[in-house]
Amino acid sequence: MKILVLGSGAREHAIIVALLAENVGHEVLAAPGNAGIGEVATLVDLDPNDPVAVTNYADDAGINLVVIGPEAPLVAGVADRLRENGVPVFGPGRAAAQLEGSKSFAKRIMQAANVPTGRALRATSLSEAAAALDELGAPYVVKADGLAAGKGVIVTDDRDAALAHAAEFLPQGSLLIEEFLSGPEVSLFFVSDGHTVVPLSPAQDYKRALDGDAGPNTGGMGAYSPLPWLAERFGGEEAFVAEVQRTVAEPVVRELANEQTPFIGLLYAGLILTDAGVRVIEFNARFGDPETQVVLPRLATPLSTLLFAAASGTLDEADAPRFTPDTAVTVVLASEGYPEAPKTGRAITGVAAATAVDGVHIAHAATRRGADGALVATGGRVLNVVATGATFAESTRRAYAAIAEIALEGSHFRSDIAARVVAD
Ligand code: AMP
Ligand code: GLY
Repeated sequence: MKILVLGSGAREHAIIVALLAENVGHEVLAAPGNAGIGEVATLVDLDPNDPVAVTNYADDAGINLVVIGPEAPLVAGVADRLRENGVPVFGPGRAAAQLEGSKSFAKRIMQAANVPTGRALRATSLSEAAAALDELGAPYVVKADGLAAGKGVIVTDDRDAALAHAAEFLPQGSLLIEEFLSGPEVSLFFVSDGHTVVPLSPAQDYKRALDGDAGPNTGGMGAYSPLPWLAERFGGEEAFVAEVQRTVAEPVVRELANEQTPFIGLLYAGLILTDAGVRVIEFNARFGDPETQVVLPRLATPLSTLLFAAASGTLDEADAPRFTPDTAVTVVLASEGYPEAPKTGRAITGVAAATAVDGVHIAHAATRRGADGALVATGGRVLNVVATGATFAESTRRAYAAIAEIALEGSHFRSDIAARVVAD
């Protein structure tokens, strides 16, 4: 197949690596991609957020499948335009992508579909926000309604800090004040063709910048999959996945189909496992980053078949995805100053030595090649070291051995990724 992947991060690099690992001669192109993606796929100079440009390119180049990585092209209507022109595309249209783009839309769909989630109050002024904070009580959870690149949410015991966050984000639109939910977090992906829903394997993301879940929220500093501790609560991963499929993914996909806005793409359920049961804290309308980097290396069935079946409405006929029992861990190398003010433009060395560690590959998140061919950091999250192994002891040892080979002035990474499962 000739496959065009939109996006430029480690998630897109991981998707492309999984497509090429099928070894069936796919031709993979990426727009705009990055330095690492450019080593394995053809980079196309194309604005991924421009529906007309992407559709014209896909037509001219004879693309068989477009895979949309990030949320911005979804919200810009790229999938709608491609679909109108008969190009198979993995990614929802603008209307269904509101599941991620608008937290109040997501709450409305969850209410209509009877999906378990925290109680939330909408606020459009500071006085409404203050009243909602007092009604729901501490700890306070304040969320910007629209897309805010992971920066729109605050969880705090400090009422003044909650109000300050509300004041910061109110000019951009309404807010949700949400009931605080306590418990471990799980990211679970479902592939949907608008009607049929197929689960992938669960993962856990580390959102805070520093070890021990300290520091500010980030886009994600690491992840691991599978989650052995699910067995204690649910009797195994399969029972957990089946419950979330039945109580969350299927009702949401059914509701969106009923509203004539079918969800075709990746439904990412962000879950908290509270003592009272599973609760949805957010949906995303695309593969998670960095969770994808640990889920796809464990996929034992062809990714292209799955994504193409979703894009063409034939998931009910496709083989169910299967996963290896291997463990996978990813550790993110971030620039100095990330997430507040990352320093970019610095040279990176040691990637070849890191890649030489057994069971390791590097997914590039924000890199380019300088004029002299040297690798240069272009953003906050720069590289993902991804390691697989028979046990978490093995995969984490490999990941940390590899990241020790990489040098980027001022960079930082968490040293406790997957630590809680190493003994399992
Ligand atoms: P979100 O952008 O909605 O995923 O929120 C970002 C992070 O804030 C989540 O991964 C959680 O760690 C935390 N969070 C969000 N909503 C809640 C909630 N209702 N209770 C506790 N923590 C939350
Ligand atoms: N890992 C969180 C996200 O992709 O939104």
